[in-house]
Amino acid sequence: MGHGFAVIHPGLEEVVAAELAGFGIEGDVVPGGVRFSADAARVAMLTRAMRTPSQLLYELGSGTARSSDALGVLIRSLPWKEFLLPQAELKIEITSRASALRFKDTVSRALTAMIRDARKGAFVPDRGVRPRHVQVLQVRIVEDQVTVSLDAGGDLLHKRGWRTEAGRAPIRENLAACMLALAEWDGTDALYDPFCGAGTIPIEGALLAAGRPPFQGRGGFACDEWGKGKPVGGKPRSGGRPPPSAAPTRPPPKGTAVQMVFGSDHQAQAVATSVANARRAGVVVPFRLLDVAEIQPPAVVGTIVTNPPYGERLGVTVDEVYATFGRSLRERFGSWRVVFLAPDRRMALKVDERVERVVQFKNGGLSVGVWTYLA
Ligand SMILES: C[S@@+](CC[C@H](N)C(=O)[O-])C[C@H]1O[C@@H](n2cnc3c(N)ncnc32)[C@H](O)[C@@H]1O
Repeated sequence: MGHGFAVIHPGLEEVVAAELAGFGIEGDVVPGGVRFSADAARVAMLTRAMRTPSQLLYELGSGTARSSDALGVLIRSLPWKEFLLPQAELKIEITSRASALRFKDTVSRALTAMIRDARKGAFVPDRGVRPRHVQVLQVRIVEDQVTVSLDAGGDLLHKRGWRTEAGRAPIRENLAACMLALAEWDGTDALYDPFCGAGTIPIEGALLAAGRPPFQGRGGFACDEWGKGKPVGGKPRSGGRPPPSAAPTRPPPKGTAVQMVFGSDHQAQAVATSVANARRAGVVVPFRLLDVAEIQPPAVVGTIVTNPPYGERLGVTVDEVYATFGRSLRERFGSWRVVFLAPDRRMALKVDERVERVVQFKNGGLSVGVWTYLA
């Protein structure tokens, strides 16, 4: 049995661990992700089905290497034939810390030559067939311990396929999924985002509630190419062929209706973008043009999950927007649960003095908190 690694912004590791637990996988939480036992087929299945990680890696192998020769022995022992088509475009990302092999350019050149050599003549190239995905190889060298992993997605997993239009400050789709998980929203009550922007949170919610995969129109993943080579002898050191079929997804919770998901924004362009993105995702979400001062509860009880604006715009300070949001909730959203992003406690308190921080994480270098309270 090999290992997989689910990558996430530091601070949100437990959210990913909880989603993995839903697939029956107990992992080890480490800074920046969760490491777990899995073969290649399992990692490929998780790549197609999970909502919260930003990346899923499959570890091809690991070992100690203090010299290029030792690295060569490790590289030659890995199952390249199974995972890299001859025509695959290969990107190599190297990190090295406290190790003898510390010059990334040298290691990268040596690796490229070794991999080319290791897979040379290994299988017959399908001439004229271009790989659909780039294979990204991650090489991590820490205190001379080398871990070689393939990025199963080939591109970051927040790229779901349906959000081809976005506003000025869109939240990454997998972070929207993390917020829904932190809100413990599972589709059995109403969901409302009154600062919906490109519609990311409601659309992620609608797909979750419908039990549909988060990827709609993405095209595919690097792991779709795994196992398509024609190995000539030799077994992969671990793992196996990923199944060609798509991942199973959870059935929708009982009583779920996609119409329980709502969004609004005070910008007409944001509403139009949300509508277009929802159409591409194949979900029905009513999006309305509303200032947060005018919002009304679309159901008696429910959950607000949202990320209000940052920065200053149109002469209205963000402090005022947060305060107006809080006032609308106090006046009209009694019994709704509220989960929102705010850069710091001072801003969160503008919404309501009862707020509690659920988690703090780094987003694009900025620290941001997820806050909650009952309105
Ligand atoms: C950080 S963005 C939300 C991004 C969104 N989650 C997405 O993924 O695209 C904040 C949104 O709040 C909206 N907004 C700002 N002030 C508002 C107000 N007073 N009432 C309603 N919406 C407002 C902006 O138009 C913007 O779309």
